[in-house]
Amino acid sequence: MILRSFSKSIETYDQHAFIQNKMAHELDKRLPAYEPSDILELGCGTGLFTTLLRKKYTTSVITAIDMSLVMINQAKLKLISDPISWVCGDIQTYNFNRKFDLITSNSCLHWVSDLDETLNHLKPFIYPNTRLIFSIFGPKTFEELRLGLSTVMEKRICLSSDFFLDQDRLNLIFKSHFNHVEIFEIIQTHSFSDTISLLNHIKKTGTRGYGLIDENKKPLHQSLTRKRLDRLDSWFGTPFFITYQVFIVEINLKV
Ligand SMILES: C[S@@+](CC[C@H](N)C(=O)[O-])C[C@H]1O[C@@H](n2cnc3c(N)ncnc32)[C@H](O)[C@@H]1O
Repeated sequence: MILRSFSKSIETYDQHAFIQNKMAHELDKRLPAYEPSDILELGCGTGLFTTLLRKKYTTSVITAIDMSLVMINQAKLKLISDPISWVCGDIQTYNFNRKFDLITSNSCLHWVSDLDETLNHLKPFIYPNTRLIFSIFGPKTFEELRLGLSTVMEKRICLSSDFFLDQDRLNLIFKSHFNHVEIFEIIQTHSFSDTISLLNHIKKTGTRGYGLIDENKKPLHQSLTRKRLDRLDSWFGTPFFITYQVFIVEINLKV
């Protein structure tokens, strides 16, 4: 489902992924000043952040992995003459067969099914002094939409972001694997003129995830009829603001 949703957004992702783009620049500011020799980027997508990595580190070996082949092919076009090692695979299971000095990821790790397991899986590819720096979306992302939908549909509606981890959970998980973990929150808002443009934005960035689901992540087979959309528009008012909650996670030393 996640793979399909990202792959479908291929034509529109770059144009609409302004929050992911902003977060890529946030990460870029925090990347180490020295040139790491071996870099791993998790969930490279269309190469938005990979391009910044390459600009900053001109001689590093960069390995970029994504589970969507169409996303990787798009990224390759951006860095066409660059000897980046592109991998199509799942970060939760892929065997990289070597260690990296810097592991980084923009707007991807909230999609893994089990972060704790994923970190366990990545451990063999981490030196004691590997730098790790990630941006991860939090559960307040799209909270207004969730509330609006639950109001007009008169039942509890969940979105994929309901299942993203909050700061306490992220702290617990990362600290169980690493020393020197720092996590801080960035709240971004963006305004939309109506519900349709918000839903289009979500679709065009592939962040629809599982769509409308219940508390057990089961799909809700209820459609957003014109009447419901009109009710949502009145509920939101115009223009309205939508929240994105992003955590920057920095790990500096010792596995
Ligand atoms: C929101 S996009 C972010 C892409 C890119 N990092 C950027 O900054 O624009 C998330 C990406 O993570 C990838 N992804 C999600 N789960 C993954 C997994 N388990 N293994 C590999 N890639 C994954 C998706 O295919 C998608 O391309």
